[in-house]
Amino acid sequence: MTVPFIDLKPQTALVSGAERRHINAFFDDMEFVGGKSTATLEADIVAHCDFDGDFIACANGTDALQLVFMALALNTDRPLKVGCPDVTFWASCEAIINAGHMPVLLDIDSHDLQLSLPSLQAGHEAFALDALVFPHLFGWCSAELEAIRAYCRAQNIFLLEDGAQSFGVKKDGRHIVADADVSTVSFYPAKVLGGCMDGGGIFVKDAVLAENIRKLGNHGRSSHYGYEFSGVNSRMSGLQARYLTTMLTKIDAIIEDRNASLTLYREKIGSRFENKLNLHAPPAGVTGNGYLQVMTLSAAPYDKVMAHMGEHGIGLGRVYPSLMREQPAHFDYLSPAEPTAAKAFVDSVINLPLYFGMTEAQIDDVVSRLEAFFND
Ligand SMILES: Cc1ncc(COP(=O)(O)O)c(C=O)c1O
Repeated sequence: MTVPFIDLKPQTALVSGAERRHINAFFDDMEFVGGKSTATLEADIVAHCDFDGDFIACANGTDALQLVFMALALNTDRPLKVGCPDVTFWASCEAIINAGHMPVLLDIDSHDLQLSLPSLQAGHEAFALDALVFPHLFGWCSAELEAIRAYCRAQNIFLLEDGAQSFGVKKDGRHIVADADVSTVSFYPAKVLGGCMDGGGIFVKDAVLAENIRKLGNHGRSSHYGYEFSGVNSRMSGLQARYLTTMLTKIDAIIEDRNASLTLYREKIGSRFENKLNLHAPPAGVTGNGYLQVMTLSAAPYDKVMAHMGEHGIGLGRVYPSLMREQPAHFDYLSPAEPTAAKAFVDSVINLPLYFGMTEAQIDDVVSRLEAFFND
């Protein structure tokens, strides 16, 4: 493959010899689970994001969502109606189902591709939502971020922001997570702040909620052999914490590099394929983290484009190719209306290769192959 869809080698190569020795020393320090390095990572993440609250490291971004629902269940034992966009990674919806709640599937906005505010309002009017899982997808966030937050606050809807993909995204120069009450993150290796194994965490402002989440992720422990709740084991290894603390020192350069590649794509594609494809970008005021290149096709079936590019060694992605409600996993859900914008998106989305360390020659290769396809 001349240009794979994703290549983690250049980012991993950022870790110098001295840094690797420090990371490997977790073995001598026997920081296999938790320990000082995890506490250091938590403090560094809070400081980096200007977050006025707690950050709790856990085993992955899915657990991060589920731990919040477990903490909510301490105060309510009835199933909740939880809004969720029909376009997201399955874990956003899965966390609602696994917690025994009812997903209320909502449409997206066709411009910013995030949860649509009118659809949220329609969902709340129809079903009286208790909570909302609000993912920030593709490396940016909704143009209506503040309006959606304000609506949830006014309507007493518990807002859980799924920030699995949005580490480092800023609005008007400020980390979007800084103004969230509860938000999660994933450190899956392919994420912008990618770990060396699965990982995740929860940002929480409320001290009691934070304490409960921390206990729930460690078997509900209140002392070594005392269990206040029935929780789960969702702890982070010292190895992962050291690796992530090291990567965090490079995150600004990583994001800059990914955004530079996106700019090159935009410049080189320009208006050459007008009426054939649309390039999507963060809304005004939002600085993305360069997680994904996103475009929708208007003039060609995606499978033909993918086959053509694949024949020439270029890996494309489709994030996401289907709706939550179309998953073969059978689950009950409610919905205020047909998700027309979400459906149009999943039927036409295609992603070009994007990762830290792409070269301009690789981007030229991708764009010229695209040109050959559309000009044939
Ligand atoms: C929007 C979203 N939510 C949740 C998750 C789950 O994170 P993890 O893979 O770390 O469990 C992901 C991971 O891709 C995601 O993209």
